[in-house]
Amino acid sequence: MIPPKTIRHILETTRIEEVVQDFLPLRRSGANFTARCPFHHEKTPSFSVSPARNIFKCFGCGKGGNAAKFLMEHEGYSFPEALRWLAKKYNIEIQEVQPTLEQLATQQEEESLFIVNDYALKFFQENLPGAGMGYLKSRGFTEAPIQKFGLGYAPDNWDALKKAATQAGFKLQYLQKLGLTTPSGKDFFRHRVIFPITNLGGKVIAFAGRTINNETIQQSNHPKYLNSPESPLYQKGQTLYGIHMAKQAIRRQDECILVEGYTDLIAIHQAGIENIVASAGTAITSEQLLLIRRFSTNLKILYDGDPAGIQATLRGLDLALELDMNVKIVPLPHPDDPDSFLRKVGINAFTEFITNHAVDFINFKANTLLSGAGNDPVKKAAAVHNIVDSIAHVPDPLKRSFFVKDCAALVGLGEEVLAQETAKTVRALAERQRLVIPRGSNHSSMLSPQKETYERYLIRLLLEHGAETLGPKEDTTIAEFILGSIEDILEHFEDPLCLCICRESIELVKSKQPVAPHHFTSHEDLAISGLVVEVLFKKIEPGPYWEEIGHFPSTHSNGQDQIVLITKAIAHLKLNMVNRFCEQNLQRLRNIPGGDETQTTRLLTAQERLNEIRRGLAETLGMVIK
Ligand code: CTP
Ligand code: MN
Repeated sequence: MIPPKTIRHILETTRIEEVVQDFLPLRRSGANFTARCPFHHEKTPSFSVSPARNIFKCFGCGKGGNAAKFLMEHEGYSFPEALRWLAKKYNIEIQEVQPTLEQLATQQEEESLFIVNDYALKFFQENLPGAGMGYLKSRGFTEAPIQKFGLGYAPDNWDALKKAATQAGFKLQYLQKLGLTTPSGKDFFRHRVIFPITNLGGKVIAFAGRTINNETIQQSNHPKYLNSPESPLYQKGQTLYGIHMAKQAIRRQDECILVEGYTDLIAIHQAGIENIVASAGTAITSEQLLLIRRFSTNLKILYDGDPAGIQATLRGLDLALELDMNVKIVPLPHPDDPDSFLRKVGINAFTEFITNHAVDFINFKANTLLSGAGNDPVKKAAAVHNIVDSIAHVPDPLKRSFFVKDCAALVGLGEEVLAQETAKTVRALAERQRLVIPRGSNHSSMLSPQKETYERYLIRLLLEHGAETLGPKEDTTIAEFILGSIEDILEHFEDPLCLCICRESIELVKSKQPVAPHHFTSHEDLAISGLVVEVLFKKIEPGPYWEEIGHFPSTHSNGQDQIVLITKAIAHLKLNMVNRFCEQNLQRLRNIPGGDETQTTRLLTAQERLNEIRRGLAETLGMVIK
C-alpha cells in the first residue's frame, strides 16, 4: 500500500498538463489548455486543463479530476496503478507499507469482484492441460500466445469452479454477480476453452468460453461461444478484446486492426501482428471507437464478407467518420475469416493482402450499396443519398471534397451535383446537432442537474475565497469566518465528504495554512478530490442561489457584504437541517406505540422548539413559513 503522505507528495508534484499532454494534443487557451474530450464524442473542444488548479474538467460530459483520475479514466488504471505511473514519471520513490487488517476488510466490492475473477482465471488455467490444451493445439496455437492471453479450460463438470471457489472462501454471491455461476447454482462455463477478457489496464473483467465439441455447435441450446453476462466490472459495448495487449503497438504503428473473433486475434498476434483488437461479436459501438481513438485514428477492419456482417459493420461506422477517424476495410475472400485465411496463405501473403486490399470506408460503402442496387434508378438514388450522408459526417471540408470526387467517379454522376447534395446534408446535420444532444456523449451529467446543496455551496465559497480576508482592513479570513459559523452544526452535515473537507479546513486554519483548492485537489482520498473538482467547476449559472443569496461580493468590497451573504447561505443550510429534523421528529411521533404519553409529550415539545427555530431562520431570510 502507498502511504497517504506519499500519495499527496505524488499528486502535488504532478503537473496535470504534462500528464494529459502525454496522451492528447493540448491547445493553449488563455490560462488553460483545451482539447477534444477523449471520454465523449464531441465536435468542439469542451475538455479543459487548468494548470493553476492542477486538474482537468470536461464541460460536456462532466468528467474531471486530478492527474491520477485522468490516468484511471484514460488508461483504465486503478488508483494505485495511476499513482505508480506518476511516481515513475516524476522520479518519486514509493516505500510501500503493509495494509492493516481493517483496511483489508473494508476493501470495496469492486476489488473483491476482481479478486474472484483472478481466482477463476487461475482455476481455468490450472485445468488447461488435457482436453483444453489438446483443442488449442489442434487449432495451431503455440505455447507463447496461450500463456500471454491467459487461456484456460472450464472442466466438463456441473459445479467444479463453484465448489473450488467456495471452499477457498469466496462468497457465492460474488460468483453469481460475475455470472461465473448461474442463478440455479451451476457453473456457467462447462467443457469450454476460456478466453479471459481484460480491461485497458489488463485486469480480468469477464470471460468467454468456446465449446471444444464442434458437433454440438449446430444445436441452438449450445452456442459456440458463451460470454460472461454484464456485471459491475463488465460492460460489453465498452470493451474490446485484446486492447490491453495491443495498445502500445497501436500507438507505435499508429494503426489499429479490428477483427471479429477471439481466435482471429490470437492467430494474428501469434504471427507477429500485435496492433490488433477484436469486437467479439458485437456491432462496433461509439465507446469502442473512442477507446481505439485514444491510441490511433487509423482503423483497419478485417472481416469475413457475409452480407449480414457487412450491414452491421456499415451501420456503426458513420460514427468513426464523425470522430475524424480514417477507416479502411479489408474484405477477405469468402468464406475465410482472418484466422483461416492466415493459416491458408501464411503471414507474408496475409500482410501483403491486407495492405493492398484495404479500401477506404466511403469507397467500400459505395461499392457494396451500388452493387446491390443494380440498374434500378430509385435504388441507385437511395444508395447515393446514403453515401452522401456518410460523407457529410466527415468534419474536415477538404477530406469531404476528396470523398465527393471519388464518389462522383464511382457512381458516374457530376461532381457538382454531389457536392451540392453533400453541402445540403452537412447543413441539415449541423442543424440537428443544435437541436439534439450529440450522439455517443454521456448525457446524464448534461441533463440532470448535479446535486447542488447548501453544503456544497459553502464548500465552494470556502475554497474559492477562503484565503481572502473579510474586507481590506480585516485580519479574519473568509475561511475562518465560515468555519467559525458552522463548527457547531458540522455533525449534522448530510454529506460525509463535505464534512470531511470542513474538518480538514479547520485543521489548516489551526496550523495557519491557507484554505485553498490545491490542498484538496491533491488529496489522498480520490472521493474528496473528485468532489472538490465537481464543486469548483460546476457551471455557475444564475440559479436558485443567485435568487436567494445573490452574487458573492468582489474582493474589493468591504467585508460587510460578504458577511451578509455567508450568513444568508448558512441560514439556508440550517433551515434545511431543521426541516429534516422536523420530518424525522414527525416520523417518530407517528410510530409511538399507543399510550406512551411521556414519549409523546417529549416529542411534541421538541417539535414546538424546532418550529420556533424554523420561524427564526425564516425571518432572517425574509421568508414566510406556515
Ligand atoms: N460470437 C459469440 N457468440 C456466438 C458466436 C460468435 O459471442 N455464439 C462472437 C465471438 O466473439 C466470436 C465472433 O463472434 O469470436 C465471431 O464468430 P464466428 O465467426 O462464428 O467465430 P470465430 O471467431 O471464427 O470462432 P472459431 O474460429 O472458434 O469458430
Ligand atoms: Mn474462425
